[in-house]
Amino acid sequence: MSSSSAKPLAGRRVLLIVGGGIAAYKALDLIRRLRERGAQVRPLLTDSAQEFVTPLAAAALAGERAHTDLFDRESEADIGHIRLARDADAIVVAPATANLMARMATGHAPDLASTVLLATTLPILIAPAMNVRMWQHPATQRNLATLKADGVAVVGPNEGAMAEAEFGPGRLAEPHEIADALETLLAQRAESPGFGFLAGRDTPKKPLTGRHVLVTSGPTHEAIDPVRYLANRSSGRQGHAVAAAAAEAGARVTLVSGPVAVPDPAGVTVVRVESAREMLAAVEAVLPADLAIFAAAVGDWRPAETRAGKIKKDGSTPAPLQLVENPDILATIAGRSEGRPALVVGFAAETDDVIVNAQKKIARKGCDLIVANDVSAEGGVMGGTENTVHLVAREGGIETWPKLGKEEVGRRLVARFAELLTAKSR
Ligand SMILES: Cc1cc2nc3c(=O)[nH]c(=O)nc-3n(C[C@H](O)[C@H](O)[C@H](O)COP(=O)(O)O)c2cc1C
Repeated sequence: MSSSSAKPLAGRRVLLIVGGGIAAYKALDLIRRLRERGAQVRPLLTDSAQEFVTPLAAAALAGERAHTDLFDRESEADIGHIRLARDADAIVVAPATANLMARMATGHAPDLASTVLLATTLPILIAPAMNVRMWQHPATQRNLATLKADGVAVVGPNEGAMAEAEFGPGRLAEPHEIADALETLLAQRAESPGFGFLAGRDTPKKPLTGRHVLVTSGPTHEAIDPVRYLANRSSGRQGHAVAAAAAEAGARVTLVSGPVAVPDPAGVTVVRVESAREMLAAVEAVLPADLAIFAAAVGDWRPAETRAGKIKKDGSTPAPLQLVENPDILATIAGRSEGRPALVVGFAAETDDVIVNAQKKIARKGCDLIVANDVSAEGGVMGGTENTVHLVAREGGIETWPKLGKEEVGRRLVARFAELLTAKSR
């Protein structure tokens, strides 16, 4: 989804609440993007936001006045807070600060932005942006889970370099990603009119609401020297599709990904790693989780030694590459006596005896379920867009699904895992 001549947001009215973060300047670009897609944008700036951007700039770009003050008599008589909460098709909060998320999650309403957010029944999309430690703080993650459970849609944050020379999740999603997420939200609203902040409480809860789901995806790169590595053909498509489906199912999702070219799934926190050992450390840091899905193709071996300098081609026979075994991430987590996720799922890419090998793998690793696929089968080549999977359970059940697109496989797997998780917690 991106801007097109059909103006996908034509006629849509958006109340854009700008929070007081360093990324507030990007809200100005967002106004431009939303208008390019046909939306009418009414800006509302928190007091803190006005330390970063002026109401005048927001108003000039929106072509509408910018709202700022709860106790402004003139604007209360003109478009009061209750009308602001009603007179739109959706509310977008970008950047959503940690403070604003906390006010929303706890129902505090000390200012115009939070009062409007408390008084509205419109669909809400938040685009959080903050320092990585603020984002990872359990308080922010609790607030995020509460907001998701309340039916608030979330886009980002993305991972990357941040202010104060830090790196990690916390960057505001790009304006085009926020606009795409808004289009998706409005399309969902059209399909299911009950979807919305207050209305959402009457709709059935999403099956993974309140759950933390950990997914690993992609290959690992095991360094030989600074320019060479051992890798495999995993594209990350299947793992990323599972992570996206888990987020759609209402979960808080952390995706630990090896090096891939596929985009980050929306609404998912992504932790990027290179090697198997980095992946294990990242997974252990991310736990606890209710459900852990190990879809990454982790290298079984790594070079015994990583050379500090590039190995030269100087005419002599190269020394044979000595390999040592990598840690077994699936077996390590499945074998935990404390803090084991309630459901641990492994993936197995096999070229022969797919089911027998999957059964052996379950016994060896101690996981609950293996999603096995035959990577030598036609169309099932590792890295492709479709997958034929077999679900092999520890208790002995085996299911074989038809060949499906990886997104559809992701959705069906998540639906099945949610059922199993619910059954376990009864
Ligand atoms: C320079 C500077 C940058 C800030 N950046 C952020 C940020 O990116 N995200 C965030 O949540 N808070 C950030 N803060 C803190 C918020 O401004 C502060 O929590 C404020 O109370 C938020 O108010 P609001 O939620 O009403 O907009 C920043 C503060 C300063 C001084």
